Amino acid sequence: MTEEFIINNVGSDPEIYEQLIPQIDSIVSVEEPIISNLANVTAALKQCFKKISWVGFYLAVDEKLCLGPFQGNVACTIIPFGKGVCGTSALKKETIIVSDVEKFPGHIACDSGSKSEIVVPIILDGNVAGVLDLDSYIYTAFNETDKFFLEQIIKILISKLDFCKFHLT
Ligand code: SME
Repeated sequence: MTEEFIINNVGSDPEIYEQLIPQIDSIVSVEEPIISNLANVTAALKQCFKKISWVGFYLAVDEKLCLGPFQGNVACTIIPFGKGVCGTSALKKETIIVSDVEKFPGHIACDSGSKSEIVVPIILDGNVAGVLDLDSYIYTAFNETDKFFLEQIIKILISKLDFCKFHLT
C-alpha cells in the first residue's frame, strides 16, 4: 500500500463511511499479507471515527476467536464461540449492536471504560473466519448505519483476500 489515506472526519457518519469505503477498497491488496491488510483497516477506522475507543479483528481458530490486528488498549486474547459479544456474533453468524454493554449478559470487559459495541462476523461459505469488533466510550455509539457500512467493508475484505490461506497458529 503506497497511496495516501485522506479523510475529513468532521462529517456525518454516512459521509465519513462514503469517503472511507473506496479508500479501503484501494488500500486492501491481495498481493500483501492478510495480517497487514487487516491492520491497515483497523487503523483506517480508528483514524476516521472519534467515537471508536477500540477496533480490531478476532480470527477464528477451532471455534475460538484469537486476537488479531487492532488499534486501542491491550485486549483479551482468546474468546470461545458463544462467549461475550464477539463469541455470540460468531456463534449466531450475525452482526450484534450493543447500546449498553452492561446490559449484554456475558459481555467481556477488556476495558472498563467501554460503554457500547458492535461486532460484525466474517463469514466464508457459511463458516466464521473471524469478527470485526468496535468499542466506544459513548453509550449507543453504533447503529444500523454502522452495521450497513461495516458489513460492506467485510464484503470487500472477503472478495479481495483469501482467508482460507491464512493460518494464525
Ligand atoms: N467486549 C468483547 C470482548 C473484546 S473487547 O471488547 C476488545 C466481548 O464481549 O466479546
